[in-house]
Amino acid sequence: MAKTIKLDPINVNVAIQTNDNLLSGLLSKDLQVMKECGGRGMCATCHVYVTQGMESLSPLNRREQRTLEVITTCTKFSRLACQARVLGEGVVVELPSGMYISDIDNIEDLIGRRAEDNILHPLTGAVLVEAGKLITRSMITQLQDTQVEAKDYLAKTRDA
Ligand code: FES
Repeated sequence: MAKTIKLDPINVNVAIQTNDNLLSGLLSKDLQVMKECGGRGMCATCHVYVTQGMESLSPLNRREQRTLEVITTCTKFSRLACQARVLGEGVVVELPSGMYISDIDNIEDLIGRRAEDNILHPLTGAVLVEAGKLITRSMITQLQDTQVEAKDYLAKTRDA
């Protein structure tokens, strides 16, 4: 049986098979969800806010709990879309505003431009560059380092 969830950012309803994760609903609507860790509950890139219907989702597992603890933008409404399974009706989901640094192919291209959107850390969800801010060369180096560090970290956890 399917359950309906509402995606707040684009104001549409999506049908999800009972027990499927929230991520499947987000992806079915082509929302930009990076899932940098491959849906293993290890990153911030599928972090969502469940503004209604939290009780209709599967409970937090240990891994999700641990990952949410390092996400600086985590609130009591936070879940990882790859871990939260839909068990009932009435779920409303909102995505954090911004794009993850890992989603930017060529960071160098940003030099001298203003960030179109918040640029976010893929593991902590922290805002690395606020929307509208001018991006300097020194910021580029930091962003590149962050991108590499996050990739290395996730690769190590994959091998472990
Ligand atoms: S995709 Fe990484 S935690 Fe969900």
